[in-house]
Amino acid sequence: MNYRHSFHAGNFADVAKHLALVSAIAHLKKKDKGFAVIDTHGGRGLYDLSSREAKRTGEHESGIAKLAKASGEGVLGEYLALARVAPDRYPGSPLLAMKMLRPQDRLVAIEKHPEESAELRHALRPYDRARIVEGDGYKELLALLPPPERRGLVLIDPPYEDDKEFAHAAQALIAAHRRFATGVYMLWFPIKSEAAANAFCGEIANHGIEKLLRMDIAIKPPPAKPGRGEPLAAAGLLIVNPPFGLDDDMRAAALVVEPALDARMTIAWLANA
Ligand SMILES: C[S@@+](CC[C@H](N)C(=O)[O-])C[C@H]1O[C@@H](n2cnc3c(N)ncnc32)[C@H](O)[C@@H]1O
Repeated sequence: MNYRHSFHAGNFADVAKHLALVSAIAHLKKKDKGFAVIDTHGGRGLYDLSSREAKRTGEHESGIAKLAKASGEGVLGEYLALARVAPDRYPGSPLLAMKMLRPQDRLVAIEKHPEESAELRHALRPYDRARIVEGDGYKELLALLPPPERRGLVLIDPPYEDDKEFAHAAQALIAAHRRFATGVYMLWFPIKSEAAANAFCGEIANHGIEKLLRMDIAIKPPPAKPGRGEPLAAAGLLIVNPPFGLDDDMRAAALVVEPALDARMTIAWLANA
């Protein structure tokens, strides 16, 4: 377990993933009934963009640092306002979600790494509707489903430290969907090969999920830094049961994100029964 999200926080992939998260939560809030957000791989909640880790990769410079100079309406505007949490800081998914929740909603954020989970607890200390679990996100997830509210959003955002994680993440999504078929699920994945990404998404689409949206973002590969592997240049998000309007939100956001980040975003339904 060597992965630390501090090296990547606020990069192009975080921007796209967090935009979709903000859109999904905004749509869920259109109904009064409360809902649960379950973040299986929470990270530390708040990232210091001036830290040694963030400076070493500089990844946020081709992500949130560029987008923050743009102005946006709708979901993009809401995301940018939430992202401006404090100078040189970037909020992770549990903090972004928690900042949007109402008194009737709640968050469960799971994080396996003890140091990251302690930081997450600290970042979410002001919020009494946030529960932080130090443990394995995949195991904890099934025990939390279906949520008593019968309304919920699950973000599965693993580190993909090895290739087996694709299978683990896909199995977790499919098992969770079996238990709670009406939930909204977001599964993030890195794209190193288009063929492998298509196969991964196809495998999930073959499990009888009726509504499945795929959103990809790709940037021009940044120059490799000595001693580090090939930098990530593309990532995707599979969204099961996206709330009505999320796809249009993402298309609208793409009109600003693409030129700001010199990126390409694609939004496509893999199943829409
Ligand atoms: C990509 S980061 C999460 C980023 C976060 N979701 C966000 O968007 O701000 C993945 C996190 O998962 C944690 N992790 C790794 N394996 C885990 C597991 N089995 N269960 C829960 N957390 C895990 C890592 O320590 C890391 O903090």
